[in-house]
This record gives sequence, C-alpha cells and structure tokens, in this order.
Amino acid sequence: MKKTELTLRVENVSASFQNGKESVQILKDVSFEVPRGKMLAIVGESGCGKSVTVHSIMQLLPKNGHIDSGKVFFNDGENEVDLFSMTKFSKKMRAIRGGKIGMVFQDPMASLNPTHRIGKQVAENLIEHYKMPKKEAMKRVIDLFKRLGIPDPEQRVKDYPHQFSGGMRQRVMIAISMICNPDLLIADEPTTALDVTIQAQIMDLMKELQEKYNKSIILITHNMGLVAEVADHVAVMYMGRIVEYGTVSDILNHPSHPYTKSLLQSVPVMGLDKNRKLATIRGTTPNPKYYTGGCEFADRCGFAMESCKSTTISNVNLTDNHKVRCLLFENSKEVVAK
Ligand SMILES: Nc1ncnc2c1ncn2[C@@H]1O[C@H](COP(=O)(O)OP(=O)(O)OP(=O)(O)O)[C@@H](O)[C@H]1O
Ligand SMILES: [Mg+2]
Repeated sequence: MKKTELTLRVENVSASFQNGKESVQILKDVSFEVPRGKMLAIVGESGCGKSVTVHSIMQLLPKNGHIDSGKVFFNDGENEVDLFSMTKFSKKMRAIRGGKIGMVFQDPMASLNPTHRIGKQVAENLIEHYKMPKKEAMKRVIDLFKRLGIPDPEQRVKDYPHQFSGGMRQRVMIAISMICNPDLLIADEPTTALDVTIQAQIMDLMKELQEKYNKSIILITHNMGLVAEVADHVAVMYMGRIVEYGTVSDILNHPSHPYTKSLLQSVPVMGLDKNRKLATIRGTTPNPKYYTGGCEFADRCGFAMESCKSTTISNVNLTDNHKVRCLLFENSKEVVAK
C-alpha cells in the first residue's frame, strides 16, 4: 500500500506509567495502520490499553504516563508528519489535535469547560483552526447539533454543560470532534451512554464522514455487533499488546489467537445481535505489574504450552493483512493451515 493511502501508521509504540517509585509498562510494541477512508475497531477487555493507545497517539497521556519508544506517522493526503517528533503543546501538534485529528473521549464531562456555553465550546475549534467568523461558526454548530439529534439546537447552544444530560454531553463531545471535518476521527466508546436509536444515528454520521468524505476512523468499543456492522479492520488487544489484527472478516470469521476466539465465543457471527457485548473469559486480566515474561495470555489460555510462558512471541503473518501474535502459529505450519 502506498504511503499516502494510509492516514495513520503506528509503529512499535511502548508506553509506561509511573506509580510512585515503580514504572509499569502498559503498551508493548503496539503497531497498526489505518487506511484512508476506512474504519479500524480496537477491541479487548477493560484495562487492556485501548484508551492509553489513542491517548499516546495524541500525546495526551497524563503526567505520570510516558512514551518509551515507537513512531506514529499521520498523513492528511498531502503531507506525512511524525507525531512523536512534535512536542505535546507545540503549535503544530495543537493544529493537528482537534483540527486534522478529532477525538471523542471516553469521559465526556472531564473535557467540557463548565463555565463556557456549549455552542461556544464547539465553535472554538472552527474559529481556532479555520479562522472562521463567529456567526458562521455558530451556524455550523447548530447544523451539526441538528444532525446529531440535539433538539432545539438554536436555544441549546446557549446552555452550559450542567444543563445537558449525560447523553447530550456525549453528543456535544462528538460534535466537537467532528466539527472540523477531521482526516482521522478517534472515537473512544462514543455511544455507550446513548440509547440505541441515537447510537445508530451517530454511527450513521460517522459512516457518512468516512464514506462520503473518505475520512478514517478509529473506533474503540466493547460492542461486537457494532464492529461487525461498521468496521473494516479490527485490532484485538490484550494486556497492552495487539494480539491479532485483520479485516473484519478475518477476525470474525477466522479468529486465530486463542484470546480472540474466547472473545468471540458464543457470538454467532452472521446476524450478530446488535448490542452483543464481548464474552467474559475465565480468570481475570492479570495486573501488568506482575508480568514475568512470555505470552501475556498464557495463564488463561486453553492451548498454552510450557514455552509460551518464557518465549518472546513474534507477530506471524497469516495472510497479507491478517497478523497474529501466538506461538501456536510460529511453530506449527499445520496450525496455520487450519
Ligand atoms: N493515569 C494512570 N496511571 C497509572 N495507570 C494507568 C493510568 N491510566 C491507565 N492506567 C493503566 O493502564 C492500563 C490500560 O488502561 P486503559 O484505560 O487504556 O484501558 P482500556 O482498554 O481503555 O479499558 P476500558 O475498556 O475500561 O476503557 C490499565 O492497567 C490501567 O490501570
Ligand atoms: Mg478506555
């Protein structure tokens, strides 16, 4: 694939958090690509590092978070930039954040300013990134509010965040992320607090952004039904690693990593229930602090061999775009063929 066809290339990103005197590695060699005009879903149990992955890309880790290594290349169709070569608060990084890359955060309340009117907070992005006159920016905000199903938008833009319900605030966050027509939209559980009809309406808008304007999307979700319906590619994460990556059909119809298989267990792929959540897997996610080496999933894996606990596991290409990080595939061609 030509470079310009990829909006984002994430290469071997590792990150850790400092907890007191102790440093715990949270992301391990995370690599993936987002082709232009496509949607990548990132799935995996709670705590596996989905949010930390996208916060790292945007250089928005909290103070105790640190990117240890890796590169992230962002391409808007004309220029490719290395995001990690820019400092967190540099002009260039700020122009990308909110302008060319929009983000919906998992916690909508944390990112709205309680003392500013809602409309102003959404319009700010247009004024800052496109130098748009205030009146025109507000017209755009009202129009987007309408499309996001916010009733009476002309009045509601004058409200403050506390006057909005949780679901409404989430829609405002989505408006902030989409208002500049970003080349890449990162949506971290964007529709969890919303009812099914609104969820569908918002996913339709995201699909429109993607298909009509050829934009790229990273969607983080626990909803496998949604993944089946809207995603093009899927990255499956477990304890800070991408253990499997492929097209939505590779992952749903030919899951290879034992972890992916467990996640999908009892989820009939065809006619997947729209609101089906990821299955629960026996055992609990181990604390990354106590990691001792080898495959992170070995303790919970029904196929684990003794060597899984001590060997460094590499990524195996099953087909052109389907990759799995599992010793079963590294060692045995028969297993690859199954
Ligand atoms: N500020 C922090 N300080 C220390 N550790 C953190 C911090 N934020 C996240 N972590 C740790 O990083 C790991 C990954 O967290 P992350 O929030 O990315 O999970 P997630 O996959 O987004 O989960 P969820 O599905 O619940 O949103 C967890 O082990 C978490 O405890
Ligand atoms: Mg998260």
